[in-house]
Amino acid sequence: MNVMVIGSGGREHAIVHALAKSTDIDTLYCLPGNGGIASEAECVNIKATDIQGIVEFAEKNSIDFAAVIPDDPLAMGLTDVLRAKGVPCFGPSAAAARIESSKAYAKDLMRRYGIPTASYEVFSDRDKAVDHVKNSSLPIVVKADGLALGKGVIIAQTQEDAITAIDSMMLDERFGKSGKTVVIEEFLQGPEVSLLVFTDSKTYAVMPSSMDHKRSKNNDEGDNTGGMGTVSPNPFFDYEALCTERIIEPTIKAMNAEGTPFKGCLYFGLMITKDGPKVIEYNCRFGDPETQVVLPLLNSDLFEIMRAVESETLSEIDISFKQLTSCCVVLCSDGYPGKYDTGFEISFDDGLPNDVLCYHAGTKLTDGKLVTSGGRVLGVVCVRDSLSDAVEGAYKACEHIHFKGKYMRTDIGRRALTMTEGKR
Ligand code: AMP
Ligand code: GLY
Repeated sequence: MNVMVIGSGGREHAIVHALAKSTDIDTLYCLPGNGGIASEAECVNIKATDIQGIVEFAEKNSIDFAAVIPDDPLAMGLTDVLRAKGVPCFGPSAAAARIESSKAYAKDLMRRYGIPTASYEVFSDRDKAVDHVKNSSLPIVVKADGLALGKGVIIAQTQEDAITAIDSMMLDERFGKSGKTVVIEEFLQGPEVSLLVFTDSKTYAVMPSSMDHKRSKNNDEGDNTGGMGTVSPNPFFDYEALCTERIIEPTIKAMNAEGTPFKGCLYFGLMITKDGPKVIEYNCRFGDPETQVVLPLLNSDLFEIMRAVESETLSEIDISFKQLTSCCVVLCSDGYPGKYDTGFEISFDDGLPNDVLCYHAGTKLTDGKLVTSGGRVLGVVCVRDSLSDAVEGAYKACEHIHFKGKYMRTDIGRRALTMTEGKR
């Protein structure tokens, strides 16, 4: 079969790497892919948001199956267009992708179906939003309704900060149309857990939990990023049965009841509060860099799972994961998530251990040389029996990778390790 994966990050590399093992795939394409994906799939320089270009490519190259990974093409309806052309897909329809592309929609869904989340109000009028802030306790959380590259959430410690956030979103249109409507919500506290779930809308399979490290600097300081590293499983997550009953099943049922069944990977961003797990956000896709630590633990054939999700036969296949631990350290370009330079050559010392995987995110091949091309450059993943060994293995491997301006957090997994040791 001819299969195309849409996307270009470290998450897509992890997906391509898993799909490349499938004996059912003859040709694996990635649009647009990156410098590392190019060694496992045929990369084609068509942007993930070029819907027309992708559809034409699928028709010309007799694509039998498409895996649409990033949020933008999902929100733009790429799977709807491809399915209408007879190309089966992994990934939700645009209507189901609203669970991520509109926070107001997601919050309303949770309220109507009794799914635990922070209390909130939605505003499309700036003055009403400001009045609400003046009557609320602090801190308070201001969120742009639409997609904002992970930057549309402001945790305001003062009323002035909250009003500045409202004005930058609603008046100055910092996130364009995404911020014309804002969600203002209660500030929750507790460790965060990412939970990825395969679902075909009838049944579901929960993947091992993971823990992201979103801030750019050690000790969760610095700006919010796409994610600086992950570990899996997440030792703070002890609530699978509770989450299944109160969060996962009700969400899948709610999507069906709304007439927008969700098929694909549903990402639950949870916070373990003193009142139990609550949903901080839904994503309509695999997490990045969560996927980089979760997929190496998968025993089953990812392509078989993706096809079963599309044909709504997920209950007919076995899905299992290794009882191991993994850690991903993201190597970035100095300056990320702000301004940074690119184009620096990347070199690897010989002898990365067998249990280390190096997923490419912002890399490209220029005249046969591998160079940096983005903020997050590589995800270095190690899978071992224990968390401490996985963390050590990932950091050891990072010492053997070189490029100008290489930057990483040096505490990925530290909080998880403290928790793991406390449990013993
Ligand atoms: P989101 O884009 O909704 O995932 O938010 C990004 C990050 O902001 C989350 O991972 C949390 O760390 C933080 N956050 C979002 N909503 C809340 C909330 N209600 N209370 C506390 N922190 C939050
Ligand atoms: N790592 C967070 C996300 O993928 O949204």
